[in-house]
Amino acid sequence: MAATLEKALQDAQVGLKVLQVLTENSYDSILVTDATKDAKIIYANKAFKTLTGYDPSEVIGKTPRILQGPATDRQVIARLADALKNEGRFEGKAINYRKDGAPFIMHWRVLPAKIGSRTKVWVAVQREGFEI
Ligand SMILES: Cc1cc2nc3c(=O)[nH]c(=O)nc-3n(C[C@H](O)[C@H](O)[C@H](O)COP(=O)(O)O)c2cc1C
Repeated sequence: MAATLEKALQDAQVGLKVLQVLTENSYDSILVTDATKDAKIIYANKAFKTLTGYDPSEVIGKTPRILQGPATDRQVIARLADALKNEGRFEGKAINYRKDGAPFIMHWRVLPAKIGSRTKVWVAVQREGFEI
């Protein structure tokens, strides 16, 4: 990170504003969950609605499992569950379902946001994939 941005981010209010501008204008869908076993959604950006059809307000408190369905590859999900258990990172593709039930290929990364060695929240960056 450039030293100048690092300096600007020392002001927590500036940090929050930069984060807000980035997430609200990102072309990629961004999902943040808490660090509980169930990984409950605490934030979804506007691009999440474009991708999935769910309004951010209706997914807060739910788990991203709402995106899964019969054709979702359980092996990919098992790999993700492992990453969560080990507080590691995940990248993969699997069939997910939009709010209207239409299947699509989700291509996503899940990353732990750690302070020291403790995962405080999980962050996902998601977009539509074109081949599994
Ligand atoms: C930040 C985050 C984002 C997630 N995003 C998705 C997603 O886009 N699609 C999906 O199928 N699962 C997603 N998951 C995975 C599910 O929430 C759940 O962790 C997964 O199904 C493994 O648990 P299970 O084996 O108990 O179902 C995400 C998990 C986290 C922590």
